Amino acid sequence: TDYQTIVTAARGRVGWITLNRPEALNALNVQVMRDVVDAAEAFDADAGIGAIVVTGSDRAFAAGADIKEMEALSGSEMLMGDHFGGWARFAAVRTPVIAAVSGYALGGGCELAMMCDIILAADTATFGQPEIGLGVIPGMGGTQRLTRAVGSFKAAELILTGRHFGAEEAERAGLVSRVVPAADLLDDAQRTAEAIAAKSLPSLYAATEALDVALESTLAEGLRYEKHAFAGLFDTADQKEGMAAFREKRAPGFTHR
Ligand code: HXC
Repeated sequence: TDYQTIVTAARGRVGWITLNRPEALNALNVQVMRDVVDAAEAFDADAGIGAIVVTGSDRAFAAGADIKEMEALSGSEMLMGDHFGGWARFAAVRTPVIAAVSGYALGGGCELAMMCDIILAADTATFGQPEIGLGVIPGMGGTQRLTRAVGSFKAAELILTGRHFGAEEAERAGLVSRVVPAADLLDDAQRTAEAIAAKSLPSLYAATEALDVALESTLAEGLRYEKHAFAGLFDTADQKEGMAAFREKRAPGFTHR
């Protein structure tokens, strides 16, 4: 497929999406949204892919939504055009998605990372929700997902000041899964994604959806969801294979069914 703003590749069972708008530090315009959403949905529909990595360049994961593109829009154009609506489709992808963040992950870039299941950060990464300095607020989920990730007082301080913060602070706050040396980021992301992609796809789907439910529901609703999702996996071939392999002291050969 000819994407204009990203480069895609399949490495084994891992699908890679690399943002490629270096002249704008990977700022997320409408074309980037279309390309990323299309690529992620294509990988999601491919049973040969068991994990997706989204990354940018050394200098920038993404420096935010494209300020120059949205500057002149009216409120009603923003709302009625559903300017950022496509991102909901990206967030709904069931295949586990790893954000491999190096450099700037600001505004919509930080929000894109938070739509992923796992955030791996280079020790040089810089995060922030600087929208308040532009006279607006985070608009791709930041006020909601950052609050769930780091708690309300930490999120309020970050969103109201708009200050940048580093990978170490992000990890301490619970915004990133793991910090790795910058030089190892892409290899680590591939290894992590391979380890995930080797698991049974039905169980991965059930896990990513149950993790989403945890953020969206009460404990009682979430536990009820988990009970049914767990039971449903006992109708998969891979559950029988995984448990037989344990009993027979061998590695499982999952067929993703
Ligand atoms: C459009 C951007 C951009 C952005 C960088 N560029 N960020 N263009 N939108 N978000 C462009 C610059 O204009 C410049 O192009 C080129 O990328 C390189 O950027 P510089 O500023 O020259 O680089 P540097 O001095 O190293 O500073 C890097 C930076 C700074 C600290 C990341 O670019 C910056 O502060 N960017 C904006 C960050 C931000 O506010 N993000 C939040 C956006 S709002 P030219 O051609 O001009 O030289 C948002 C809302 C999300 O994300 C919700 C939407 C509903």
